[in-house]
Amino acid sequence: MLGLLQLVQSLAYVFLASGTSVSLPAELYSPLVASKVLKIASSLPQPMMYPQYTDRVRGDWEYFVPDLWTSGFFPATLYEMRRRAQLTPEVPLETNNTVGHDVGFLSYPFVNELEIDKDNQTARDAVNRFASDLAARFNPIVGCTRSWDTANPIDFEVIIDNMMNLEVLFVSASLTGNKTLEDIAISHANKTMQNHVRPDGSSFHVVEYNATTGKVIAKFTAQGYSNSSTWSRGQAWGIYGFSNMYNHTKHSDYLVTARRMASYFLLHLPSNGIVPWDSNAPLEPPRPADSSAAMAAVNGLFLLAQQEASLSPPNKSGSAYYTNAAIKLLRDNTALAWRPEWQSLLANGTVDNPQGNNLTGIVYGDYFFVKAGNDLIKLGEAPC
Ligand SMILES: *[C@@H]1O[C@H](CO)[C@@H](O)[C@H](O)[C@H]1NC(C)=O
Ligand SMILES: *[C@@H]1O[C@H](CO)[C@@H](O)[C@H](O)[C@H]1NC(C)=O
Ligand SMILES: *[C@@H]1O[C@H](CO)[C@@H](O)[C@H](O)[C@H]1NC(C)=O
Ligand SMILES: *[C@@H]1O[C@H](CO)[C@@H](O)[C@H](O)[C@H]1NC(C)=O
Ligand SMILES: *[C@@H]1O[C@H](CO)[C@@H](O)[C@H](O)[C@H]1NC(C)=O
Ligand SMILES: *[C@@H]1O[C@H](CO)[C@@H](O)[C@H](O)[C@H]1NC(C)=O
Ligand SMILES: *[C@@H]1O[C@H](CO)[C@@H](O)[C@H](O)[C@H]1NC(C)=O
Ligand SMILES: *[C@@H]1O[C@H](CO)[C@@H](O)[C@H](O)[C@H]1NC(C)=O
Ligand SMILES: *[C@@H]1O[C@H](CO)[C@@H](O)[C@H](O)[C@H]1NC(C)=O
Ligand SMILES: *[C@@H]1O[C@H](CO)[C@@H](O)[C@H](O)[C@H]1NC(C)=O
Repeated sequence: MLGLLQLVQSLAYVFLASGTSVSLPAELYSPLVASKVLKIASSLPQPMMYPQYTDRVRGDWEYFVPDLWTSGFFPATLYEMRRRAQLTPEVPLETNNTVGHDVGFLSYPFVNELEIDKDNQTARDAVNRFASDLAARFNPIVGCTRSWDTANPIDFEVIIDNMMNLEVLFVSASLTGNKTLEDIAISHANKTMQNHVRPDGSSFHVVEYNATTGKVIAKFTAQGYSNSSTWSRGQAWGIYGFSNMYNHTKHSDYLVTARRMASYFLLHLPSNGIVPWDSNAPLEPPRPADSSAAMAAVNGLFLLAQQEASLSPPNKSGSAYYTNAAIKLLRDNTALAWRPEWQSLLANGTVDNPQGNNLTGIVYGDYFFVKAGNDLIKLGEAPC
């Protein structure tokens, strides 16, 4: 892996995809990536807390108890660093998490551990528990897993983000042989495809169902600009989530949906390529970027590119198109957000603009940035 990394560097960050050369941002493999991440890893608060986002001015991390939907990202970043440079961070993983629904993200470090040691029982148990926690939130009348708990349990809210949970159901199914978990994932994805994704490929953040009838009560936004707008990070989760569903099931509707969501995302970028926090947020006052949405989309587009390449015959032009679009997104948004002087790798992340939480470093933006660097090394292993 290290050899490949050096090879990538020695090619002066030129990535060759189907005869097209697109230059990678040099920051992707900067020594600052490892030094910043490892410095934070070696000075985590005790009892254990993990970084989630930074302040807006100095870029210093703010730490939170590991019982949040974001708790898996910092440890997962360490696994990505380990994969990249054979580093072996010694950071204990917290398994006592009560979040319940954002379990896909929480499972990342444990899934990473299983790639190193498939027999690690702690990691197997954690993955299976996250999957069964999620399965327990499945309502067969609605056909989805519940996202947020609401004051009135009849109001069954489902967020587009939860497409990112479905992977843990497949991982657990592969560990246990329990196909019910896959059926739940397929049902959730089908309903999301019908009700969250609009005809033009854009998406609602939240769909609220009646838990007793399964009927849609409302479609609206929580973190986006308006009920009819497209919150960028949600759109990115959709690109990744439907590409992933296609990978697991080969149902062509998922591939078509991933393409439609990718097209909407890419065709609505401003000419400078900077991802705004919401596609439809007004231009004035200047709309904050969301570098975390950009990085999530980069990873989703890489996954989509791999699905195009997996078709028979391989869709080489489709694969090259998404790969190049992802690299351009990575380059434009890294140029904006890379901050050597901050503790986070990237700035210009927007956690929740309606709550005034914008323009910070964010742990999942950094995670998907590091993972994009690793994905590129992997993609380079099998050049077209
Ligand atoms: C797990 O978290 C719950 C709720 O925060 C707490 O009550 C419990 O003591 C914790 N258990 C362990 C083993 O840390
Ligand atoms: C097993 O995985 C857990 C994380 O899930 C890790 O903390 C632990 O060190 C691993 N155990 C061994 C023996 O590698
Ligand atoms: C499979 O998973 C579902 C959902 O967690 C659970 O209800 C069921 O008992 C599991 N089946 C087996 C055979 O363990
Ligand atoms: C889910 O959607 C796929 C693809 O459209 C379809 O083949 C499958 O029958 C659907 N399954 C369920 C349970 O709705
Ligand atoms: C949900 O459906 C039930 C049964 O038709 C109905 O009584 C209830 O008012 C509905 N709730 C909402 C919020 O639509
Ligand atoms: C957005 O949708 C929600 C849920 O239907 C509704 O309560 C709210 O009034 C809507 N907002 C606007 C500005 O229409
Ligand atoms: C697709 O899913 C398989 C498991 O079915 C997994 O091994 C593989 O890594 C996935 N491919 C990608 C590109 O994620
Ligand atoms: C990026 O963040 C900096 C502060 O860190 C801010 O001055 C600038 O306006 C932001 N740009 C965008 C497009 O969000
Ligand atoms: C190849 O991918 C592009 C982009 O997704 C798509 O428009 C085209 O239909 C695909 N071609 C085939 C043969 O699947
Ligand atoms: C960004 O957040 C600040 C508060 O932290 C808020 O005052 C400002 O309005 C937000 N920016 C935009 C364009 O919404």
